Amino acid sequence: MSSSRRDFFKKVIGTGAVVAGLPACAPDIDPSPVLDVPAPGEDGIVSLVVPRYPDLSRAGGSVTLRFPGSSGQENLLVVHPTENTYAVLSATCTHVGCPMGFDGTEAVCPCHLSKFSITGAVTNAPATVPLKVYVATYNAGTQVLNIELKSGDTTFPSVVNGTLTLTFDQFPALRDVGGVASGRPTGYGKTVFIFKLEDGTYSAVDSICTHTGCEVKLEESINGLLCPCHASTFTKKGDVTQGPATLPLKTFTVAENASGVVVTIT
Ligand code: FES
Ligand code: FES
Repeated sequence: MSSSRRDFFKKVIGTGAVVAGLPACAPDIDPSPVLDVPAPGEDGIVSLVVPRYPDLSRAGGSVTLRFPGSSGQENLLVVHPTENTYAVLSATCTHVGCPMGFDGTEAVCPCHLSKFSITGAVTNAPATVPLKVYVATYNAGTQVLNIELKSGDTTFPSVVNGTLTLTFDQFPALRDVGGVASGRPTGYGKTVFIFKLEDGTYSAVDSICTHTGCEVKLEESINGLLCPCHASTFTKKGDVTQGPATLPLKTFTVAENASGVVVTIT
């Protein structure tokens, strides 16, 4: 085990995070080197001049981008599998939340050896949930990699002037008590859930878990939201029902009108 890997596990153990179950024959995969970067600007674009970062500029290399905690932006794993090919994924494993590494071909979690392709798909358990993938464009002429933090699903409405409008025609489930719509709106870049609650009102909540930033999922068996990393659960209004998270999910204001709902995205 390399010294940096030993240091990593010392740090993980120091935080109380789960490391039990590390296979004795685990290959020597370390989390990717961390690069501290400033908070993203209003446009949500992060630009990297690749030659400045030797860990990333070599084919097979990778770095973890760490943003200031106040920015609310999760860490990103930037990988360079082959010449002029880059991909950007969430740097947090969807199993129980360890920081990810890269073996030159796939994203690999040092804790229990889950693997993910550069498209985010799980290729080796125990993780079952894909890694989130970000849109990134590399210009081979300027050697600049642009990462779009606010890009979203093409099948979901975009944020326009700070609002997200979902019509009942597009999202008929929102007419009904118990109905839900979810997606990643361009202009926000993170998944948002909109619920019609049992009392007929609406709620809209962010998907980023307040424990260490994994993305929560809808879990019908608890009629709420479940974080795949350390099993925190939340109501449809974002309140914590089970830790380790202690803070509620971020919420948004929702207004209903005759044709649908309007969510104010901040
Ligand atoms: S945290 Fe267990 S495989 Fe990643
Ligand atoms: S990130 Fe740990 S419970 Fe969600």
